[in-house]
Amino acid sequence: ETRFLRDYSPYPFRVRETRLDVTLAPQGTVVSSRIEFERTGAGSLVLDGGTGLRTRSVTIDGAPVDAAHLAMTGETLTIAEAALPDRPFTFAAQVEIDPEANTALEGLYLSGGIFCTQCEAEGFRHITWYPDRPDVMAPFRVTVRSNLPVLLSNGNPVAQGEGWAEWHDPWPKPAYLFALVAGDLKAVSDSFTTMSGRKVALNVWVRPADLDRADFAMEALKKSMRWDETAYGREYDLDVFNIVAVDDFNMGAMENKGLNIFNSKLVLASPETATDADYERIEAVIAHEYFHNWTGNRITCRDWFQLCLKEGLTVFRDQQFTSDVRSAAVKRIEDVVMLRGRQFREDAGPLAHPPRPDRYEEINNFYTATVYEKGAEVIGMLRRLVGDDGYRKSLDLYFDRHDGQACTIEDWLKVFEDATGRDLAQFKRWYTDAGTPKLTLAEDWDDEAGRLTLRFSQATAPTPGQPDKPARVIPIAVGLISQNGDEVLPTRVLEMTEARQDFGFEGLGSRPVVSLLRGFSAPVTVDRKMTTVERAILLAHDTDSFARWQAGHDLAMDSLVAMARGGSVDPVFTHALGGALDDESLDPAFVALVLRLPGEDEIAAEIAARGATPDPDAIHQARDALAAGLAAEHERGLSTLYDRMEVPGPYSPEAGPAGRRSLRLAALGLLSRLDGGVRAQALWDSASNMTEKMGALAALVRLDRAGPALAQMEARFGDNRLVMDKFFSVQPMAAPPARAVPVAKELAERPDFDWKNPNRFRSLIGGLAANHAAFHAGDGSGYDFVADWLMRLDPVNPQTAARMTTVFETWPRYDADRRARAREALERLAALPSLSGNTGEMVRRILAAG
Ligand code: ARG
Ligand code: ZN
Repeated sequence: ETRFLRDYSPYPFRVRETRLDVTLAPQGTVVSSRIEFERTGAGSLVLDGGTGLRTRSVTIDGAPVDAAHLAMTGETLTIAEAALPDRPFTFAAQVEIDPEANTALEGLYLSGGIFCTQCEAEGFRHITWYPDRPDVMAPFRVTVRSNLPVLLSNGNPVAQGEGWAEWHDPWPKPAYLFALVAGDLKAVSDSFTTMSGRKVALNVWVRPADLDRADFAMEALKKSMRWDETAYGREYDLDVFNIVAVDDFNMGAMENKGLNIFNSKLVLASPETATDADYERIEAVIAHEYFHNWTGNRITCRDWFQLCLKEGLTVFRDQQFTSDVRSAAVKRIEDVVMLRGRQFREDAGPLAHPPRPDRYEEINNFYTATVYEKGAEVIGMLRRLVGDDGYRKSLDLYFDRHDGQACTIEDWLKVFEDATGRDLAQFKRWYTDAGTPKLTLAEDWDDEAGRLTLRFSQATAPTPGQPDKPARVIPIAVGLISQNGDEVLPTRVLEMTEARQDFGFEGLGSRPVVSLLRGFSAPVTVDRKMTTVERAILLAHDTDSFARWQAGHDLAMDSLVAMARGGSVDPVFTHALGGALDDESLDPAFVALVLRLPGEDEIAAEIAARGATPDPDAIHQARDALAAGLAAEHERGLSTLYDRMEVPGPYSPEAGPAGRRSLRLAALGLLSRLDGGVRAQALWDSASNMTEKMGALAALVRLDRAGPALAQMEARFGDNRLVMDKFFSVQPMAAPPARAVPVAKELAERPDFDWKNPNRFRSLIGGLAANHAAFHAGDGSGYDFVADWLMRLDPVNPQTAARMTTVFETWPRYDADRRARAREALERLAALPSLSGNTGEMVRRILAAG
């Protein structure tokens, strides 16, 4: 059933307090609720409750409800207006639920003996009857009963005894922020004193065996709390803050008030088990969930169409945080690579939707790169347009005006209009219109007048349901670099508002090179003619690190596209890259990014965007050949770099040493194309941290020489789930394409392929799908393998199955034969008689493109 933004109507009751009393048992948990309602509008009382609630009693003010006034369907409970008192009343219900049978991991479930919850977006209705919508906010009082040693819920602990604990959360919140945890857990504990001097107790709860891997998460939490005070003036508002790590989790983590629940892979880290990238991600997600306390919890969303109100803003904030505590330049490039790889891809395919969608069938299918990452980009543009001060003033007004409310994108834009006086009517299209605008630049150079005119035009291709795309406001940051590398014009932001618009620069002595879209000032694609030499000038001299990296990336992409069509390695490219290799003034992490060639999926997208049909095998060969060519041309430099970037001393996950390791591994990746894996094997044997181990292992897997290393990995880490997830993902992902499907099939036969665990499923099935030439194998074996597993997972865990269908979203870009095979696989999935609504919606949308 499709829901529409335009159909919003307020709930006709306010909830004054919600009390829950939960007696935990694996198969028969009893939930008693008392909800105090106060009428604010007309109508009957409608509560949400998923199938799976065994309802034992329903009362109003203590008296059973007359059957004539009570209607219960699978999904709602309705009490007629006639049966409701005029004054405030208490609805009470007792239901029984079965956490052990809950493999969907939505609502209350068991993960490795730990009771835990996931209620966003609509999981609370699987726990008890409730107005499960984000604009109904209430303080909660919760009693948890169990003989497990640790019993947690939201807010502050108020009382506890043998086998029970009571929690009170004074801050009104929607049900999606409810959480409950019970288990045999141990904590890393610490405290934080807020800017106004209040002491907050902090705990990171994990299974006893994992206790030695939780310190980093605690440090990240304290850093995040301080940062939000300094950067946004936001202080924490309860006496305790708890984080719990669980192994079975559909997503990354969840910002439940005062009780964040995390996928254990985003908490647990030690040098021997986690990579630098894992550490960086843990730090960012801890920050993200913590920042939700203000952007999401204190101010929440009116309805789920507004999801990007909290997610876009909170991603933007966690990106700012990472830029501050690590390298801003590197973070920006990483974020753009991710945005293009996932969000541009989404925007260009059948699943395109605006950051604020106006319809959905299943909201869980809209926790997307568009809502999250594009939502964050839109805020970045807004900040650029109103300036740092305007942004700060607007945010202060937002927190002031809307604290305790459930808001909309309109509310959000209004604070910017009121605080800065700017009209944002046109800017709003970024929220309501899907698709990535294409920005075209033509340059007009008048030598006599020393005048450069930039002639821009913008166009956005139609997306499903949105044929017409009016012009948007595009902030275009530009600078000018002279032919000999000096910056003749520092960054200036051009504000484009029309479909076509010119901007002139006077008084130039000679024709400069335009450094365009500095800092990636808008989420657009760029179409401009540029010579290889001009790109090389920017790669060598641009003062903006993003534009500098982009120049190198464009050079690589042009070479790869040409090579995939039978061309050979462009010497200007390999030569220009040499400059970056030898420049010791550059941040190693930046050089590593310059050395990283565009991925195969990105090359395919580029070829499709240029109007041709990508050939996955040719792309794979082109990328291999370019990497080999690069390695051959720069063997000495790379080898020196490989030695020079060795990091002495004990492991530290900080940006400096992590950057050196990333450059070292980038060099290794190239050198292993020449040395047959000798260096990679030596590194595998000697490395003491997981970052270098995985870098070495990936190179060995690519060379099909990883047998001994994999055996050692298994012997040492067989009982460590997170490390074994890497074991399951690196093989299908890095294997030579022809080997990948057989390798994946073998792995799927292993007894430790615990496919009901989302991390394990994503490692293997997602790993194969990430191997572009293997997933898109001409014989359809990649499509079939993934579709078969999705068919198996869907009845067990619809959310995770639905999410993974996105690996098929690019199917329309390939040749007729591949399209037919992909369609056949998707149609098999669509034809499953018991297909879930989640996966059903996704497959229908994906198929509609063909
Ligand atoms: N709000 C969470 C976050 O951004 C994501 C939870 C989404 N869960 C879901 N089942 N859709 O960190
Ligand atoms: Zn979030």
